[in-house]
Amino acid sequence: MRAATFTLALLIASAPAGATDADKGKVQFGIAGQDCITCHPQENNTAAIGPSLCGVMGRKAAGHMRYPTYSAALKVSGITWTRDRLDKFLTSPLANVRGTRMGFAGIADKTERENVIAYLERETGGELCLWDRLTPP
Ligand code: HEC
Repeated sequence: MRAATFTLALLIASAPAGATDADKGKVQFGIAGQDCITCHPQENNTAAIGPSLCGVMGRKAAGHMRYPTYSAALKVSGITWTRDRLDKFLTSPLANVRGTRMGFAGIADKTERENVIAYLERETGGELCLWDRLTPP
């Protein structure tokens, strides 16, 4: 048992830091109180309270073609989603983009924000696009 734990610890320690962060971010995206997935559709969420985050990194805010109900505030914000810009937004969405419809208090912990952003970065053209692929326009 102890040997197995030790081996696991070694495996975790030797995983590339980026991948580990994105994996943690994936957990935070889905559970652990952040619950992005409640509003941002992936494969099994068609309620689509928020836009799909497919292709979000490097894109202009309010830019997903198939989300018709962006707030005026986000549309005129002039934001392009980079790591830094997302970090500010996710700290406190309602304070950062006044008038946004994203009713989410924010993520206070910087490491947690960085992990979620690492996940968004890794999957911007990957599993975040599952919903888009499953429901053709
Ligand atoms: C209560 C529902 C809800 C939750 C929870 C939520 N969001 Fe959102 N999100 C929205 C809505 C609605 C919008 C559109 C905002 C607007 O138009 O002002 C949005 C917009 C966004 C955008 C901008 C998308 C674009 O196309 O410009 C990003 C990025 C984003 N959310 C990331 C996240 C992340 C990451 C989490 C989890 C940490 C999260 N959201 C949690 C509802 C939510």
